[in-house]
Amino acid sequence: MKEILERTSCRNFKDFPVSDEDTEKLLRAAMQAPSMGNQQPWDFLVITDKAKLEELAGIDTYAKFIAKTPEIIMILGDRNEMRFPETWMMDCSAAAQNMLIEANSLGLGAYWFGIVQSQERVDFVRKMFDLPESVIPFSLMGFGKMNRWTKPEDRFDAARIHSEKW
Ligand SMILES: Cc1cc2nc3c(=O)[nH]c(=O)nc-3n(C[C@H](O)[C@H](O)[C@H](O)COP(=O)(O)O)c2cc1C
Repeated sequence: MKEILERTSCRNFKDFPVSDEDTEKLLRAAMQAPSMGNQQPWDFLVITDKAKLEELAGIDTYAKFIAKTPEIIMILGDRNEMRFPETWMMDCSAAAQNMLIEANSLGLGAYWFGIVQSQERVDFVRKMFDLPESVIPFSLMGFGKMNRWTKPEDRFDAARIHSEKW
């Protein structure tokens, strides 16, 4: 629970690479996620090249922190792997959340930067990485050593809980 309750988005990292071992753990956590009919509609693209990260930061005016992120793992949906296309985003969300929790358990900071909700962002990434038509960029997951950790607010809200009836 610590990894969940003490998780908070980190967009400010030390200039230090994520180890190959930790990268594999993040990817293992992602691929262990539940998915509709176990369709596993995802692919992952690991980006650590500084020039590429700089270019990727041009995806949005509010994305400057991307350039200074040690490692980004992009989650992509593959239409060819979707037996249940209506749930692919939920499946990829489960993979994304697993990565955030694993990052926290590894002592890494992490963020989730959505792509799929914005056609401009999708087009930017599609062009930059020359993605095939069947592949849809879902999110950028950023990882690295945190510069500073701040305790997240407690969001527990008893008013949101309903018992037996609405
Ligand atoms: C679907 C989704 C899309 C998101 N997109 C962005 C984004 O484009 N840029 C960003 O800085 N954070 C993005 N976030 C992170 C949220 O802003 C963040 O999780 C939220 O403000 C709560 O803060 P916390 O993660 O520190 O608890 C996204 C999160 C989700 C789940």
